[in-house]
Amino acid sequence: MPAYSDKVMDHFMKPRNVGEIEDADGVGEVGNPVCGDMMTFYIKVDKDEKVSDVKFKTFGCGAAIAVSSITSELAVGKTLEQIRQITPNSVIDELEGLPQNKHHCSNLGAQALNKAVDDYLVKQGRMTKEEFATKHKEDEEEHDDACES
Ligand code: FES
Repeated sequence: MPAYSDKVMDHFMKPRNVGEIEDADGVGEVGNPVCGDMMTFYIKVDKDEKVSDVKFKTFGCGAAIAVSSITSELAVGKTLEQIRQITPNSVIDELEGLPQNKHHCSNLGAQALNKAVDDYLVKQGRMTKEEFATKHKEDEEEHDDACES
C-alpha cells in the first residue's frame, strides 16, 4: 500500500474549494481515458488579473483529489503569471510527496488550472482557439503516456 503524507491524507479527507463557479471567467477540464480520472477547474479573475476564486470537481483517485485541493489553495490570490509557476513538481512538493506510481496524478491539477487560465485568455481575445487547441493537445498526450506506464 502506498505511503501517503499526512498532508495528502488531510486534503483527500477534507478537500478545499470543491464545487463549481457558474459564471467562471475560465474553465479547464482535463481527463484521461486510460484511468478514467477527470478534473475541472473554474476560476474567477479580478481587475488586477489575480485569481480571486477557484473551485474544482474531480472524478478520480485519492491522489487526484488531494492534488486538486492543494492546487486550488495555491492558485487563490495569484497572478496569471504566478499560476504558470504551479507545476506538477511544485504540487508534489506542497503535498510533501506522492508515491512514484501516483506522480502522474499531479499532472492533472496543473494542467486543468493552466487550461482554465488559457480559456480565460481565449475569452479575452488574447489567445486564439487554434493556439489553445495545439497547446492542450500536447498536455493530453503527455498525460496519456504517463497513465499507460
Ligand atoms: S490514477 Fe490518478 S490521475 Fe490517473
